Amino acid sequence: MNNLIDIMQLSVEEIDKLIETALDIIDNPEKYAEACHGKKLATLFFEPSTRTRLSFEAAMYELGGNVLGFSAANSSSAAKGESVADTVRTVGCYADIIAMRHPKEGAPLVATRTAGVPVINAGDGGHNHPTQTLADLLTIYREKGGFENLTIGLCGDLKFGRTVHSLISAMSRYKGIKFVLISPEELKVPKYIISDVIEKNNIPYEEVTSLEENMPKLDILYMTRVQRERFFNEADYLRLKDTYVLTPDKMKLGKDSLSVLHPLPRVNEISVAVDDDPRACYFKQVLNGKYMRMALILKLLEVEV
Ligand code: NCD
Repeated sequence: MNNLIDIMQLSVEEIDKLIETALDIIDNPEKYAEACHGKKLATLFFEPSTRTRLSFEAAMYELGGNVLGFSAANSSSAAKGESVADTVRTVGCYADIIAMRHPKEGAPLVATRTAGVPVINAGDGGHNHPTQTLADLLTIYREKGGFENLTIGLCGDLKFGRTVHSLISAMSRYKGIKFVLISPEELKVPKYIISDVIEKNNIPYEEVTSLEENMPKLDILYMTRVQRERFFNEADYLRLKDTYVLTPDKMKLGKDSLSVLHPLPRVNEISVAVDDDPRACYFKQVLNGKYMRMALILKLLEVEV
């Protein structure tokens, strides 16, 4: 079965192909307008979402398909105690492909066992978020022209930020990558990612706490929100939430060629005044996410255009 649970299921060549398709969709949307005619995408969101769910739905509509689904666990039979396995087995009878977000790490993987149709992980707890990474990759490609020789700063909640984990894995396969991991002590990248991904691939990295000091060396700055919903106590969240705030003054320390990415939603970590800086790419990233999801749906449904 074609699923996307972890970004590493896609080879570098497959990612190149998805980017090629996304760029072709951008140039020739009419070519794709009926590509998924008669197909249905189910969005099963057991956790809040704006961009991911709506971009999946917009993606399917723009491919000429239809969508069904739910946007909160309490409006599905999960509220009655139904298991993920049974819910997706049911939805697999109605839909041709499923995009699923769940607070429990591994839930989309469990879903692949009973769905009977392709399952896409649209975010599982503090673990992975492979389709956000596809949006990030298309953004990096369009801003930088490729993926090699980049110093990438990841800043904020690197512990619970699932988009960070998937992006580190994806970027670890390209030449000349360096990571600058900027976080408070309590929100550092999990050890398993440092050892199994970064060190295993001999990627130079540093773990630091200062954003200002490290700004000048970055080609990409990937800002993230402190993931309130994954904290065990509110006091820790309140203490850490405003550790980093990117302001126009801090942007002055960055290269002219810097690209600032953020998976969004933003809370306080990027001042609204930064939005007008030409180096701010986070709203372009939103649009890129829709095109990459279109390309992914075509791939998983094995639709040739
Ligand atoms: C991210 C997520 O859900 O992990 N949002 C998104 O999908 N763009 C990031 C976040 O919620 O902070």
